[in-house]
Amino acid sequence: MNITNSITPEEYMGLRKIVGWNEFPLEEAEAGLKNSIIWCIRDDDDRAIGLARVLWDHGYVMYIADVIVIPEYQGRGLGRLLMEKILDFIHEQLKPGYRFMVSLCSAKGKDSFYEKFGFVARPNDDVGPGMHQWFYNEANKE
Ligand SMILES: CC(C)(COP(=O)(O)OP(=O)(O)OC[C@H]1O[C@@H](n2cnc3c(N)ncnc32)[C@H](O)[C@@H]1OP(=O)(O)O)[C@@H](O)C(=O)NCCC(=O)NCCS
Repeated sequence: MNITNSITPEEYMGLRKIVGWNEFPLEEAEAGLKNSIIWCIRDDDDRAIGLARVLWDHGYVMYIADVIVIPEYQGRGLGRLLMEKILDFIHEQLKPGYRFMVSLCSAKGKDSFYEKFGFVARPNDDVGPGMHQWFYNEANKE
């Protein structure tokens, strides 16, 4: 098992499909991956079995996306390994005086996984809810 910093769009869409997430064109996947910092766990046959990626504007805004471990490898510490890679990366980028706001959207029921790594659910006494909206090209709308 090893970790690489790249994944093909086909592998990426394959991982998304395995965990039941929505699909979109390979071209869109490729564009997103090109602009991400990637950690991909591979088994001894070089098969992608886990993924996490970070989007960073190189200022204070960071976003964690697509933390995935395929079901047959879940529960063996790989999700933790991916999160630790991300957290190490974040700490390495923090220059003196810098601060980052690192956000993510938890899948349903996965919030306590992220809480283990210090993330705090919204809304709470200090902040309002996180919000999102999907936009679709009508030609592709499900
Ligand atoms: C969420 C996910 C990445 C966890 O990966 P994993 O390899 O099974 O996690 P680990 O075995 O490394 O577990 C790490 C810790 O999180 C805990 N954990 C794992 N899954 C959890 C869950 N669904 N809810 C709460 N805690 C969870 C483990 O108990 C473990 O705790 P510990 O280290 O204190 O003992 C994996 O289940 C997954 O890919 N799910 C489908 C995709 C998904 O929903 N991803 C989250 C996207 S927002």
